[in-house]
Amino acid sequence: MARKGISMNISVIGTGYVGLVSGACFAEFGFKVICMDINEEKIKRLKAGVIPFYEPGLIEIVQKNYKLNKLEFTTDYEYAIKNAMIIFITVDTPSDQDGNSDLSQVLSVVRAIGENINEYKIIVNKSTVPIGTGNKIKKMLHEIIRMRGMDFGFDMVSNPEFLREGSSVRDFMNPDRVIVGADNIEANKKIKDIFQSLYKSYGSFVFTSIETAEMIKYASNSFLAVKVAFINEMANLCEAVGGVNVSDVAFGIGLDKRIGKSFLNAGPGYGGSCLPKDTRALVHIGKELGVNMSIIDTVINSNNNQKLKLVEKIEKVLGGVNGKTISILGLSFKAETDDIRESVAITIITELTKKGAYLKVFDPVAINTVKQHFLTHRNLYYANNEYDAVTDAEALVIATEWEQFKALDYIAIKNHLKRKLIFDFRNMLNKYILTNIGYEYYGIGI
Ligand code: UGA
Repeated sequence: MARKGISMNISVIGTGYVGLVSGACFAEFGFKVICMDINEEKIKRLKAGVIPFYEPGLIEIVQKNYKLNKLEFTTDYEYAIKNAMIIFITVDTPSDQDGNSDLSQVLSVVRAIGENINEYKIIVNKSTVPIGTGNKIKKMLHEIIRMRGMDFGFDMVSNPEFLREGSSVRDFMNPDRVIVGADNIEANKKIKDIFQSLYKSYGSFVFTSIETAEMIKYASNSFLAVKVAFINEMANLCEAVGGVNVSDVAFGIGLDKRIGKSFLNAGPGYGGSCLPKDTRALVHIGKELGVNMSIIDTVINSNNNQKLKLVEKIEKVLGGVNGKTISILGLSFKAETDDIRESVAITIITELTKKGAYLKVFDPVAINTVKQHFLTHRNLYYANNEYDAVTDAEALVIATEWEQFKALDYIAIKNHLKRKLIFDFRNMLNKYILTNIGYEYYGIGI
């Protein structure tokens, strides 16, 4: 469906989660989109219709729009920059354990834009960057263009992305809000028109300064981290008190609109590439400016402890794990993704194998990523399915909430297990049914 009155092409530089999903969705909205990445192998595979990661619904719109010529893939910076009016920067900004953000990929893209820009462009940064980076990028671009003896104008925009892995296409198409940070009123007006036509169905638009937009991204992810850490702490207290169900507590408090129901599922602690990275970065930014970010700092510690506490729980119930076989179902950091970055399953595997346990692990899509991560490990067995994973194990640990784990035959599983013991770290199974059929069941705060 071509959108009337819009002639500008879009280039998206960086084909990770945010870049590829944004590019494919913009093409689906009717724009002509060029997706650019310096990774030749990745681009070759994308042209052949192969998506580099598991993401529901993405392959269909990538293949469809590629065939329709609305989506192009290239490794050529010059082509991507010269042939688009709007250029999105969507590259990784990893942070180290101290929260320092590595901006090298963003800066390479900015240099390439400066070297290839040939007329007015709108440069939109979607990568998560420390507050103030957008303005630094702007200065850097002006400088490169000036050194070339040119004076092409451009507008700089910060447009943070809030899509979640596993539901990113739906999230991109139906955002709760679109944050648009620009640095002058004129740019703001122009950008407003463009963005309102960019997004097919949109919630609220927030037009603000570049720095504010950058801060909104960190504040959002950090607030989500606070919610998860809060409910996990409540879960631990529920368990200690006894007779209290944290899921009911979450439901009970979540009905208050000021609190909200979402993001209150107690579990093994948040993981993934974003919440851990952005909370660390925010504390680091605060430290550099002499501002004590004590809440976020505590949340980070609380989340790390939550993961380790679960390892201790397994050890305690089993009376030590050395020489024991344990089954782990679910290895990705959450369901519907093959991403294992900061996944609790990886912490559990690392800690339990260190203590001499033998682990039989299974995941519907992340098994290969885990194999690459651990390569061959003598204490790890990569199971072919759930039943293979539980055979002769002394405990079953559910680390990720894959829907299919709900539908397993728990009578058959019981017969495969050596000890009828389940650690349901996602509170996804029915404690009462499992207890009634003879399992020892441990959830989180229930
Ligand atoms: C997160 C944000 O939700 C997105 O808005 C943001 O765009 C993205 O980071 C990013 O910055 O790129 P994502 O990391 O894909 O998205 O995953 P979430 O769905 O937010 O889950 C994060 C972690 O919290 C997972 O480990 C999940 O299992 C855990 N979680 C989430 C809970 O333990 N309980 C909950 O109630 C919700």
